[in-house]
Amino acid sequence: MGHEEPPLETRVIPIDPEAPDAGVLAEAGAIIRAGGLVAFPTETVYGLGANALDDASVRRIFAAKERALDDPLIVHLATAADLGRVAADVPALARELAATFWPGPLTLVLRKRPEVPASATAGLDTVAVRVPAHPVALGLIAAAGVPVAAPSANRFTRTSATTAAHVLEDLGGRIEMVLDGGPAAFGVESSVVDVTGEPPRLLRPGALTLEALERVAGPLALGPGKERPASPGMMERHYAPRARLVYIREGGVETLRARVADAVALGLRTGVIGTDLDAAAVAGIEGVHVAMLGVEGDHASFAAGLFAGMRKLDADGVELVVVRRPGTSGLARAVDDRLRRAAAEVVE
Ligand code: TXA
Ligand code: MG
Repeated sequence: MGHEEPPLETRVIPIDPEAPDAGVLAEAGAIIRAGGLVAFPTETVYGLGANALDDASVRRIFAAKERALDDPLIVHLATAADLGRVAADVPALARELAATFWPGPLTLVLRKRPEVPASATAGLDTVAVRVPAHPVALGLIAAAGVPVAAPSANRFTRTSATTAAHVLEDLGGRIEMVLDGGPAAFGVESSVVDVTGEPPRLLRPGALTLEALERVAGPLALGPGKERPASPGMMERHYAPRARLVYIREGGVETLRARVADAVALGLRTGVIGTDLDAAAVAGIEGVHVAMLGVEGDHASFAAGLFAGMRKLDADGVELVVVRRPGTSGLARAVDDRLRRAAAEVVE
């Protein structure tokens, strides 16, 4: 898949993440209304926004990202009160989840209204919707005056962008504007829940924990159902760095150290993404590239730094990355999901 549009000048506009400038938001909103593309920060990752109700605008997102057309987008709203613009039917459970968790890192899959173009939903009769918890995102959507389709602002097959620099790396010259509101807080994408059937399904674990969801919704089914297409963010190696990623079981610090030592001995440019424990374990091995994300057990820091760590090690030219599973509950569930998809080899 090639990208054949002539390059655009991508304007990067710094913006206060707490108190965004109304003039900048108005200008960015006008670009979206006119059919353009604006990348913006959310609390999860950066999004690449376009008018969700306009087929040509939505198609530009796919072209810029070189994204497969069968991978549906998330439609972002400024308020749950706008749900009726895109969703045909909002079950009681969806209303309760929205009331509890929006604005926030929860995406609900609902029956779609005909006004949402098929390009945005990959031809499905459902639409994914969320209200993000970020003043810049909310201000931009309100200024645009239309629902905003926004996938993560990375090139297809690359890890999600958590900073404006990542967006530029992947999409510079392909989009009109990037609003730079600093690094995204969560660092992993929203949790995607399909509420069109019984029981509701967690299609993609994300920044809102399963534990929190189940306190409101009761037990969720996990993963795509048999009769439904998989949530395509679920594609294999979707979140992979360029380097070969070896994924070590939880607690396997000594295994990690040994794998790193072997790789270095073979002359491979080797990296580690991990906690202070991992960094200490490989401290005696010369030439290892370490992305240290935080102290052992701090899952929020691990999630926040994971994609940036992958990009940094790629930029260092690392050929093999070794990562140890941080855990499988709370926020670590989403991290574990991304790492399993990124892994070329899993060492249990
Ligand atoms: O945190 C996030 O969700 C970020 C920010 C920008 O909001 N967005 C994001 O979008 O991660 P994207 O396009 O990278 O991932 C969208 C996910 C995919 O896994 C896709 O398959 C799923 O949502 N999805 C979208 N529409 C769907 C639908 N109608 N049915 C099932 N899954 C759907
Ligand atoms: Mg994505």
